[in-house]
Amino acid sequence: MNKKIKNEKRPQPFAIRHNPPWSLDENRVTPEDVYVDRRNFLKGMGKVSLAALAFSASSKLWWANPLWAKTETPSSLKASPENLVGRFNNFYEFTPDKSRVWKLAKQLPLEGWSIQVKGLVKQPQVLQVADLIQKFDSQERIYRLRCVETWSAVIPWRGFPLRKLIQLCEPLSSARYVKFKTFLIPNNAPGQKDRFWEPWPYVEGLTLAEAMHDLSFLATGMYGHPLNPQNGAPIRLVVPWKYGFKSIKSIVAIEFTREAPRTFWQDMSPLEYDFEANVLPKVPYARWHQSVETLLGENQTIATLPYNGYADQVASLYK
Ligand code: MTE
Repeated sequence: MNKKIKNEKRPQPFAIRHNPPWSLDENRVTPEDVYVDRRNFLKGMGKVSLAALAFSASSKLWWANPLWAKTETPSSLKASPENLVGRFNNFYEFTPDKSRVWKLAKQLPLEGWSIQVKGLVKQPQVLQVADLIQKFDSQERIYRLRCVETWSAVIPWRGFPLRKLIQLCEPLSSARYVKFKTFLIPNNAPGQKDRFWEPWPYVEGLTLAEAMHDLSFLATGMYGHPLNPQNGAPIRLVVPWKYGFKSIKSIVAIEFTREAPRTFWQDMSPLEYDFEANVLPKVPYARWHQSVETLLGENQTIATLPYNGYADQVASLYK
């Protein structure tokens, strides 16, 4: 997943409010201006509530936050600076050059975006993203994102659990997988004219059990505003325990299938990329050792955790 491999023929085996245990401590991950505003609001709630909040934050910090516990580098656990998360992107539809995606992605036509629902469902349908945002209560989820290239970020997303959309789609009992597809508009997305990265469009998939898991999330916002085009506007998947390439951006279609869909990266480099792609630090994956990572904006590596720190929540899916 690097421009250099372009010269090769084909890549060689290239926190929500109710504070569940996986949530990151908000004081450490929320951008300061948002946090300060909230702090002013909380002041008005009185001392008792504040004491309760302080207790829950500190206890979470010490025994429930795996990143904190393992690395002993507490200063690294804070929201990644938004200017980095919005200026260092993988979005091959525009360019493999991470630093130029944000400029090119401005050409993405976001008006009236819809998602086509098809395959093994009771009734195929087309859903307007604006309607979905209205329909489902929005939640904030502050998640780690771990790229297979060994960089990582901590990002406050806004959106709703994927499960809610799946329930709305009413999959048939024969459905076992969910396939996601990104747009195909080469005139706006110049990377899609690059024949090297075929076949377009970008496709990803999850088992139905993974997709129904509470952590699987559809983000429509980040850092308190709608998603940036370069981060996958207007709607993207976020699956925090898997390598970042599973978190497909700018979704236009969801299909329920009996067989595992073949993904973009499996087509590009089948010996390197498997369908499951869980973050497992002891297992080298693609062309990188996966035991450590570097958070955007930090210069020290930290230990990568099994399932990216979400083992307690998801490891049972794979037993
Ligand atoms: N989705 C699409 N459609 N196209 C892509 O190139 N890149 C993936 C993923 N989703 C990608 C995509 C990869 S490799 C990563 S690491 C994350 O998006 C990066 O998300 P970010 O740019 O918002 O940090």
